[in-house]
Amino acid sequence: MNVEQILNQFQATGVESCFHDRHINPQIYAGLNGRNWGIQDYEARGGYAALRKILGKDGGEGLTQDQVIATVKESGLRGRGGAGFPTGLKWSFMPRQFPGQKYLVCNSDEGEPGTCKDRDIMEYNPHTVIEGMAIAAYAMGISVGYNYIHGEIFHTYERFEAALEEARAAGYLGNNIMGSSFSFQLHASHGFGAYICGEETALLESLEGKKGQPRFKPPFPASFGLYGKPTTINNTETFAAVPWIIRNGGQAYLECGKPNNGGTKIFSVSGDVERPGNYEVPMGTPFAKLLELAGGVRGGRQLKAVIPGGSSSPVVPAELMMKLTMDYDSIAKEGGSMLGSGAVIVMDDTRCMVKALARLSYFYAHESCGQCTPCREGTGWLWRMVDRIEHGQGRASDIDMLDSVAGNIMGRTICALGDAAAMPVRGMLKHFRHEFVHLIEHKTSMVNADATAVKTHG
Ligand SMILES: Cc1cc2nc3c(=O)[nH]c(=O)nc-3n(C[C@H](O)[C@H](O)[C@H](O)COP(=O)(O)O)c2cc1C
Ligand code: SF4
Repeated sequence: MNVEQILNQFQATGVESCFHDRHINPQIYAGLNGRNWGIQDYEARGGYAALRKILGKDGGEGLTQDQVIATVKESGLRGRGGAGFPTGLKWSFMPRQFPGQKYLVCNSDEGEPGTCKDRDIMEYNPHTVIEGMAIAAYAMGISVGYNYIHGEIFHTYERFEAALEEARAAGYLGNNIMGSSFSFQLHASHGFGAYICGEETALLESLEGKKGQPRFKPPFPASFGLYGKPTTINNTETFAAVPWIIRNGGQAYLECGKPNNGGTKIFSVSGDVERPGNYEVPMGTPFAKLLELAGGVRGGRQLKAVIPGGSSSPVVPAELMMKLTMDYDSIAKEGGSMLGSGAVIVMDDTRCMVKALARLSYFYAHESCGQCTPCREGTGWLWRMVDRIEHGQGRASDIDMLDSVAGNIMGRTICALGDAAAMPVRGMLKHFRHEFVHLIEHKTSMVNADATAVKTHG
């Protein structure tokens, strides 16, 4: 198939992309068809109006740095990279009066299993990231920025480079933007595919050309970031949300979602659904509605469990998940999990949870950077224990040992990868302990037996 045929197929089915009309009130993915990523189409969709607005280029007085930050605070925008930290508050930490160089960095490393939203944003709407970064740079008095893009999506990096060229030629980047005193140089840089380079300080090390390993914090990047200078780092989707907020106001964005959970969020829905893909919906949308948009559980099977926010978020059983809404507070307080990066992995009743955890644990053992002993050794222990249980060689003591190893990793490492490896283990043991016990006692998965029974009789 050539590119044109692939685009047509995506447009017709919406599968694995954002080209479908199964979004609710979209802001970032609105009106995209795969071909209209260029600057003229972006401007026709209202693009760069927010940058013009803050610089006073549309007849208005413009916005001060404080006004931009206040608007972002009012919007309730929370970082879309995983932790959900309030964006306006983060921007206010930047020491604006610092006399030397300050940096702005976009985190487009997107390595969390299940997450595939940032690549669609950069490929099909790259100018919204550029405009969002320019607005952020203006608000924090920053003149140089970088977008660090995951190394395994090189065509996305090339697309972003092409968009940067367009923005420079149109005068939206560079010196004295639109005749103002604001100057901002933005560059793209690509990594080489290591998950750990998504952790913000490892990303900075990699951007500096060093081995991508996390730094001890504090100091935090706001005071000691890229090349030791004050730096603000945000996720791609976070920057992409900013132009809409400036155009329409902080209150309008907040009202799109829920209190403390403003705006829309892009969810990458994968696993056992009819239509896997990216879905942009308001924060607070019921999970049941999101599942419906994604075509429901594949083959009409029964929902068993959901990993609601990327592979590091604890699994939530079906019954509980169907009562939750898709926002930071509901998933954390009522579901005991995390919204994380918004990667929703749906599992039907044929899935063996021991097997699922073995796959996840292998990933974390593989991606540990090896600096801290609890993570370097512990992630390997977790994987080997789950692997032997899965293969019918588990011991009765393994379940308590798994819980103990996970507990000893958590909170004892330089970065959160250790926690990310431990949390899925604890989540699986909390909700699906009986599957681990069954496999240890009977040397075979109870789920495979059940699934066969369903197939035989169904
Ligand atoms: C192991 C690990 C991997 C991460 N990967 C990503 C990533 O791929 N993209 C991302 O934006 N944030 C990632 N983060 C979170 C970043 O460290 C950081 O919090 C985020 O980029 C801040 O942006 P935000 O405030 O807009 O969410 C990761 C964190 C950890 C611990
Ligand atoms: S927790 Fe793991 S990934 Fe993070 S710094 Fe330590 S060894 Fe590296």
